[in-house]
Amino acid sequence: MPDRPRVWVSQPLFADIVGRLDEYFDVVSTTTVSQHAPEAVAAALREADGALVTLNDAVGAAQIAGASRLRAVANVGVGYNNLDLAALSAAGILASNTPDVLTETTADFGFALMMATARRITEAERWLRDGHWRQWSFESLLGSDIHGATLGILGMGRIGRGIARRAGGFGMRVLYHNRSRLPDEVEREHGARYVGFEALFEQADHLILVLPYAPENYHLVDARALARLRPHATLTNIARGGLIDEDALADALAGGRLAAAGLDVFEGEPAVNPRLLALPNVVLTPHIASGSLATRRAMVALAVANLIAALDRGPDAGRPPSPLNADAVARARKPGA
Ligand code: GLV
Repeated sequence: MPDRPRVWVSQPLFADIVGRLDEYFDVVSTTTVSQHAPEAVAAALREADGALVTLNDAVGAAQIAGASRLRAVANVGVGYNNLDLAALSAAGILASNTPDVLTETTADFGFALMMATARRITEAERWLRDGHWRQWSFESLLGSDIHGATLGILGMGRIGRGIARRAGGFGMRVLYHNRSRLPDEVEREHGARYVGFEALFEQADHLILVLPYAPENYHLVDARALARLRPHATLTNIARGGLIDEDALADALAGGRLAAAGLDVFEGEPAVNPRLLALPNVVLTPHIASGSLATRRAMVALAVANLIAALDRGPDAGRPPSPLNADAVARARKPGA
C-alpha cells in the first residue's frame, strides 16, 4: 500500500466528520447525493484502497473485480445487503457496518411509524389540509389502539428488542419470531414471548418487520403470509423493502384483508410502487428510520473510525470497531492458514 492510501467517499456525509480521513488518506469525495451506476462504483473502487459507502452503493463481485488495491469497505448503515460479503471476504477486503449507534433512534422511529399507521395520522393530516374538515365528527378517521394491543415483532435483534422495550411502556403484549429463540432471561427482560412465524401473523394486532434482509427472505411476506393477518391488523416495515411482496400487500390493503401499513423501505427505492402510493391506508416515509441528526452523525463517525483502523492507521490500527468479516479476511489474506 502506498504511504498515503486513497479512499473514495461515495456520498456527501457530514464534511466535518469525513474530514478526519484527511489526516491519513488522499480522499476522493462525492459532493452531490448520487445513485452511482454499478460501473461507476467499479471505476471508483479500481483507484481506491478503501471506501466509505452507503446503502445506495451496491458493492459486489463485479464492482471489486478490478479493484486490486482495495482493502476496506466501510458501510454507513447497519444493514449491509448492498455488500456481497462472500465476494469481499474472498478478495481479502475487510467490510464493516454501523451497529449499536442507531438502535434506539431506529426503534423510536419504528414505534412512531406503527403509531402513525394505527391512528391514521398522515391520512388525517392530508384530509385536513385538503379542506375536508367542515365540522367535528365523532366517527371520522377512527383508528386502532396501541396500548393493550398485541405487538408482533419479526426479527428480535438489537432494534427489535428496542421496540419490545418501548412496547412495555404502552402495556402491549409482545410476541416475537426470530431465526433463533432468545434465552429465557432476555425474553423475560423484554416481556416477549416466542411464537412461530404463522402464529405471529395470526395473533398480532400490529406487526413490525425488523429483520436483516438476505436473498433467502425475499418476499417472505407474500400473499400467503398476509392472508394470516386479521382485518384490523397493521403491518409496519423498517427493515428492507424486498421482504414484502408489494403487489400482494396492495391487494390485501385494497381488499380490506388488513387495516393499514406503515412503510419506510421499498423494494425499488427510491421508486415506490404506484399502487401503494394510491392507497389512503398506507403511511409512507423515505427510508429515514435512523435519521436523527445525532444518530446519522454517530453512524458516519463509526464508519470513518472503521475505515481508518481497517487501513491500519490511527490509534486502533488493524482493529476496526465493527468489522463484518474479520476472520474470513484473515484467512483469505493468509492462504493456507
Ligand atoms: C438503514 O437502513 C441501515 O441499515 O442502517
